[in-house]
Amino acid sequence: EAYDAGDHESFMHKEMLEQPARAEAVLRGRLDDKFGTGHLGGLNLDARELRAIKRVKILGCGSAYYVGQMGASLIEELARIPADAEAASEFRYRNPIVEPDTLYVAVSQSGETIDTLLAVQEIQRKGGFVIGLVNVVGSAIAREVDGGIYLHAGPEVAVASTKALTNMYLAFAMLAVQLGRVRDLSIADGRRLIAGLNAIPGQIDQVLAAEPELAVVAKSLAEAESLFFIGRVRGFPVAREGAQKFKEISYRHAEAYQTSELKHGPLALISTAVPTVAIVPDDELVERNVAALHEIAARGGPLTVVTHAGVDLGDLAGKVERIDVPKNERELDPILLTIPLQVLAYHAALSLGHDIDKPRNLAKSVTVE
Ligand code: AGP
Repeated sequence: EAYDAGDHESFMHKEMLEQPARAEAVLRGRLDDKFGTGHLGGLNLDARELRAIKRVKILGCGSAYYVGQMGASLIEELARIPADAEAASEFRYRNPIVEPDTLYVAVSQSGETIDTLLAVQEIQRKGGFVIGLVNVVGSAIAREVDGGIYLHAGPEVAVASTKALTNMYLAFAMLAVQLGRVRDLSIADGRRLIAGLNAIPGQIDQVLAAEPELAVVAKSLAEAESLFFIGRVRGFPVAREGAQKFKEISYRHAEAYQTSELKHGPLALISTAVPTVAIVPDDELVERNVAALHEIAARGGPLTVVTHAGVDLGDLAGKVERIDVPKNERELDPILLTIPLQVLAYHAALSLGHDIDKPRNLAKSVTVE
């Protein structure tokens, strides 16, 4: 069956709105409510082998790398295994140390990104075990890895990735729960997270229902030449992905920063002409994050705050654009915080009259070095 944009003005719009259904597809048959764990048969690793993993190294490019950073935090939090993500495009050039008790994870929508493929081959050349989180069935990376999780996002045409990234995140969450459950993650915590995962498709739908209001905010952000996206810990890769999406299709300069690093330099750039999109989840850092918002407001910086209903912005309330997303389990919040950032980028680009699906200078997949 042909995949076309149907009634949508672009593939990106169609693909954003498909997310609830595609999220259900990646979770289907892979969640065990009873024992609070994931069922990821394609990993080709039994419980004992999963237990023997001492470290996780995630490799991807661009947005896949940023989702990899979200995945690394999920794995560290839920399984308490040291995990980190690295740009696959850099990996092979630094003569990487490949260890037998490390699980390598290659993340790619297309499965054809040359840098990610060459990272997989370098790992295998050095005897490492690598799994793939890949969308396109039978793609080069899917064929070369030692095991993996298909993302079931369906075809993705728009250069700016949306639904594939969401499903990468959900695949990481299932992997993290499964790695956690062969270690110290309790059955109760496992069930709590599985229930959280089951709620995500419906919650994505709720975020997308706010599209008309988000479009208004986007239009005013599109007027700025330069923007900041800030977040910390779990929220930082969200900010990175938000800035990436914004710059890809609006061609505005969008820079992601850790909220905690603002005062170490970039605060100098804050002015009435430089808006900030701040990721402020209702978590253990909320008070610090709100304090940082005051620093920005004191310098006249316009603020858009992506947050949760319970968060009290104090005297900033009414002076900032506030976007509330539904609350899930704290560990799973990043994906819901990411969805409005897609919609903001999309409507900013639309208001500027850009070609949404084929932004200048970019290709859907980068298959040559
Ligand atoms: C996402 O919006 C980008 N177009 C880009 O960063 C992309 O995620 C990256 O090139 C990796 O592609 P892949 O997932 O197909 O490997």
